[in-house]
Amino acid sequence: MAYNLLKGKKGIIFGALDHKSIAWKTAEMAYAEGAEFTLTNTPTAIRFGEINELAEKCHAPVIPADATSVPDLTGLVQQSMDILGGKIDFILHSVGMSMNVRKKKVYSDLDYDYFSKTLDISALSFHKILQVCFRLDAIKEWGSVVALSYIAAQRTLYGYNDMADAKSLLESIARSFGYIYGRERKIRVNTISQSPTLTTAGSGVKGIDGLLDFTDRMSPLGNATAEECAGMCVLLFSDLTRKVTMQNIFHDGGFSSMGMSLRAMKMYNRSLDCDDCPPVD
Ligand SMILES: NC(=O)c1ccc[n+]([C@@H]2O[C@H](COP(=O)([O-])OP(=O)(O)OC[C@H]3O[C@@H](n4cnc5c(N)ncnc54)[C@H](O)[C@@H]3O)[C@@H](O)[C@H]2O)c1
Repeated sequence: MAYNLLKGKKGIIFGALDHKSIAWKTAEMAYAEGAEFTLTNTPTAIRFGEINELAEKCHAPVIPADATSVPDLTGLVQQSMDILGGKIDFILHSVGMSMNVRKKKVYSDLDYDYFSKTLDISALSFHKILQVCFRLDAIKEWGSVVALSYIAAQRTLYGYNDMADAKSLLESIARSFGYIYGRERKIRVNTISQSPTLTTAGSGVKGIDGLLDFTDRMSPLGNATAEECAGMCVLLFSDLTRKVTMQNIFHDGGFSSMGMSLRAMKMYNRSLDCDDCPPVD
């Protein structure tokens, strides 16, 4: 059901690769809620992904840009304002990648060139987008900028590797720039810390199937899906959240507040080699 929450709003959505992408689901929902936007991704992702199908559905132009390149971002923002006919109301940063993860380099044996790339793509790109938009005065008063994060920014999760450091930096950038944007432009900057989700980026996380089962068992409401994350993004883009800024919002079915759940304990005890484990019910 749509509520016209984004009627008349203009945006830029980064990171829709294929129909599983969180950015894809967000674009579909933003469109249904009345928004107009441009879509962007790297030239390679545009060539090999499915973004043109999404573009057709949402009547949204696709503008190639590498989110680590300031000239690309400047062109993207300028073109988006030209196409959409004015300043931007919302931006979604749904961008992440680690070559260390891809190449199976463990955290105690990182390749530092890859590590720099991880930080550049997954965190600094957010600063670059915010800075380019600040210089161009591209975002409207009461606009909203959202980036997607993960709980590995606060807690250590086996296998998340250098992406954990990138997410910590990403959340810090949201607070630091959120202060300046709020103070000087009345614009919101937030991150959403999403449950593990089976997307292309998500599938790269070590042991993703076990992780998905664990977090689902630990979360009283279960894992949040990509569609549900899209709902959270749309809410943050809408005028219903005008005083929410510099926050990292856990969108994870309650996982971040749990220590142990009944469902997880049952599963854990099953694997224990002991006859005197207390029964769990
Ligand atoms: N899937 C999960 O479990 C999960 C959980 C929490 C947070 N997140 C975050 O959500 C965001 C979106 O990921 P997703 O799960 O939808 O996966 P996805 O693979 O569909 O999206 C990642 C996107 O980043 C883009 N990208 C990579 N390098 C880029 C660059 N240099 N410039 C521009 N774009 C670039 C990719 O092309 C892709 O579209 C990421 O920040 C990810 O870390 C994902």
